[in-house]
Amino acid sequence: MMRVAQVFSLLFLLADGSFGEYQPTWESLDSRPLPDWYDRAKIGVFLHWGVFSVPSFGSEWFWMYWQDHSSSYVDFMNKNFRPDFTYQDFAPMFTAEFYNPEDWARLFNASGARYIVLTSKHHEGFTNWPSSYSWNWNSKDVGPKRDLLGDLANAIKEKAPHIHFGLYHSLYEWFNPLYLKDKAASFHTNNFVVGKTLMELYELVNNYEPEILWSDGDWEAPDWYWNSTAFLSWLFNDSPVKDTVVVNDRWGKGIPCHHGSYYTCADRYNPGILQNHKWENAMTIDKSSWGYRREAKVSDYLTIHELLTTLAQTISCGGNLLVNVGPTHDGRIPPIMEERLRQMGFWLDVNGDSVYDSVPWKHQNDSMTAGVWYTSKGDVVYSMVLTWPEKNELTLGSVVTTNTTVIYMLGHASRPAPLPFHPLGSSGVVVTFPPMSEVTGQWVWVLAMTGVTPI
Ligand SMILES: *[C@@H]1O[C@H](CO)[C@@H](O)[C@H](O)[C@H]1NC(C)=O
Ligand SMILES: *[C@@H]1O[C@H](CO)[C@@H](O)[C@H](O)[C@H]1NC(C)=O
Ligand SMILES: *[C@@H]1O[C@H](CO)[C@@H](O)[C@H](O)[C@H]1NC(C)=O
Ligand SMILES: *[C@@H]1O[C@H](CO)[C@@H](O)[C@H](O)[C@H]1NC(C)=O
Repeated sequence: MMRVAQVFSLLFLLADGSFGEYQPTWESLDSRPLPDWYDRAKIGVFLHWGVFSVPSFGSEWFWMYWQDHSSSYVDFMNKNFRPDFTYQDFAPMFTAEFYNPEDWARLFNASGARYIVLTSKHHEGFTNWPSSYSWNWNSKDVGPKRDLLGDLANAIKEKAPHIHFGLYHSLYEWFNPLYLKDKAASFHTNNFVVGKTLMELYELVNNYEPEILWSDGDWEAPDWYWNSTAFLSWLFNDSPVKDTVVVNDRWGKGIPCHHGSYYTCADRYNPGILQNHKWENAMTIDKSSWGYRREAKVSDYLTIHELLTTLAQTISCGGNLLVNVGPTHDGRIPPIMEERLRQMGFWLDVNGDSVYDSVPWKHQNDSMTAGVWYTSKGDVVYSMVLTWPEKNELTLGSVVTTNTTVIYMLGHASRPAPLPFHPLGSSGVVVTFPPMSEVTGQWVWVLAMTGVTPI
């Protein structure tokens, strides 16, 4: 009798899918170790691309703000489009005629990014792949007439195979009638989730094998409505990417900053102090929009110095940096965004040792000089110096030198010499910078120090 009962319960476990390593609970899902590659990669490029890239005005929230009677959006429509123009009428104008995914792959490689995250579907519901669950509202049926997502996945695989391919996906859709019906029922029905959201997620993972699933649009409903833990236990136990995939934290009201492979907490999250859980700073080169907007002025874009400052703060505190660009309706990455990405790549070519595979040090920023951020790797301590010091003398208040201390500057001459320094006893050190003309970099200089200890 015992034996039969045991066999029965085993069959039961197998049948309801709860036999895998991870149970559909946050406790179990959170026990999964973070796949190693993600923390080491440090830098990613985020892409917000969709029908909103056609009006390319205001932000990627165009449709919502227009429907909400936000005056600048209403004025924009009144001035430029016939009175009965609908948001759906923008879709055929999403032409992507200059889209060359191989050029994009080469650019992402040149930026120094080790992963990318493309919007597969934003809150407007338009899918950038030929989804079976988004009839006539996808990039194959309308607009570009191609699988934008699949073509990029292939180009990355071919041209830059070391770059991990990730996908953003919005759980909710502003105006989907199925969603609105569930919402009206206080989410006690889930026809939208069962018939749309989950079907899309399974389709995306099975067909494109993303190694990041960057979820969003979760905040109106609890995780049980989205079936998040059930989906994630499938993703971690049985999906084709179960060993390498990482997910963010936007899986239902109250979940961000609490559960997930890594935390994004809020947009542009940059806490400035060490975090005890892996996190990511998802931020934008256009300071106020994720989607491309034509009215942006040059002062609306981060300078390379501002971008590298954010990078230094983020990496020092244990985060990854996800830098967003907004492609245009015709498939270009605007030159100013391309320039920022190439500048970042140029800097990483020289200074990447302080970033890739690094771990936070005892101190994150210097106690005496503002704008100096630390990382470490093995017995090397790196300090990223945001501003060239006055009289070429940098004072560090968080580092004690020893009789084995050696300090180099990355990108200093073709055969760099150790930099002179004088210890301040047990309260720091003054490092003499080389002549600027001997230095490759122009924006944020990195010292590599061995034989030093933290104060
Ligand atoms: C990728 O970038 C590296 C270093 O920046 C460069 O050497 C390599 O040629 C690039 N590969 C492609 C396909 O652009
Ligand atoms: C949603 O989760 C429930 C358990 O909470 C499960 O029975 C159901 O099969 C899930 N639906 C899908 C489509 O995964
Ligand atoms: C170090 O960073 C913290 C947090 O950003 C800040 O409060 C502190 O002023 C910084 N220290 C210096 C010397 O800049
Ligand atoms: C380095 O300092 C240690 C004590 O901290 C001392 O024992 C050692 O002899 C010193 N070595 C040299 C080469 O001065």
